[in-house]
Amino acid sequence: MKTVIKSFTIAISAAVLLPVSAIAFEASPLSLAATKPVSSAEVTGSVPAKISVSNANVFNRLLKKIEDPNAAPADDGIHDIENEPTFALQPPKIAYKGLPTSEYGNHIDWVKALDDGLLDPRYDRVDPSIEPFVMDLDIVRPVKASVPDVVFPHKPHTQWLHCSNCHPKIFIPQRLANQINMSAIILGQKCGVCHGKVSFPPTTKSCKKCHSKPKPSDWTPPLSDATVKNPWR
Ligand code: HEC
Ligand code: HEC
Ligand code: HEC
Repeated sequence: MKTVIKSFTIAISAAVLLPVSAIAFEASPLSLAATKPVSSAEVTGSVPAKISVSNANVFNRLLKKIEDPNAAPADDGIHDIENEPTFALQPPKIAYKGLPTSEYGNHIDWVKALDDGLLDPRYDRVDPSIEPFVMDLDIVRPVKASVPDVVFPHKPHTQWLHCSNCHPKIFIPQRLANQINMSAIILGQKCGVCHGKVSFPPTTKSCKKCHSKPKPSDWTPPLSDATVKNPWR
């Protein structure tokens, strides 16, 4: 009997509390506007105005779309226009002429450009005769979620990156020894140290570049201990 009454009081107090918190929530934008000056753009929309940042993390839909991913150095918001050599740099649009295109990042398919022999990157900063040490080893990372599994290909990386760019600081060189997840990547860790900055970013169009191995036909989502041990299941 006691328990029934208890739950009753909880229900009542929740009902009383709800409208109060709803009022407090509605009132907050007003009190904000009163305490600090806000631009008209910020006040008009119910969502906060989108913020402009550098090219990193384009996956975040709350950030402004980059209008021109290949602007000339003086207009890209990255290079210092008070520094004269900025104007000596070749504008990307001239440098990228004739290269195969892609749908994201700076819209160039760099792996294809290299495979087609359109690029000849220098492997060593000082000695032009040093050839890259290319390793053709694919690492498959089975993903617990229903998205296709990830294949990390060493080849398109080692064609222009020395092993020490990744091993051992970003990744221990041992299959599945590293914990990787999408949140870390989007925040600029693990694969995100480069992907989203100097190589193709995670966008809705690029998922399949990394998630390229279809799940086995008999794949079922792994169940958590809590589900498996649930006595009422
Ligand atoms: C762009 C980053 C990157 C570069 C550059 C790179 N690796 Fe790796 N390597 C990885 C990742 C990611 C894994 C997988 C780790 C995991 O699954 O936890 C890996 C795994 C390995 C493994 C373990 C293989 C296994 O079966 O356990 C070896 C060995 C290795 N790399 C050697 C090299 C060598 C040698 C080079 C240079 C020629 C190199 N890697 C360059 C990212 C890189
Ligand atoms: C640069 C490569 C890369 C791109 C691009 C990428 N992913 Fe991933 N994704 C990974 C890696 C690596 C993992 C970790 C796999 C594992 O468990 O070892 C992962 C894991 C995941 C997971 C499992 C849950 C988690 O957070 O770890 C989901 C879901 C996922 N990715 C969805 C996506 C979607 C959707 C996109 C496109 C918007 C995308 N990924 C783009 C590399 C990538
Ligand atoms: C040290 C920098 C670096 C790291 C770390 C890195 N990548 Fe890359 N990745 C590159 C570069 C550079 C390219 C080639 C240029 C491009 O495609 O943007 C590339 C290309 C690729 C490609 C080839 C795409 C194609 O067109 O064939 C895949 C797939 C890929 N990366 C997945 C991953 C995954 C998955 C991880 C994390 C496990 C990872 N990369 C970590 C720099 C990196």
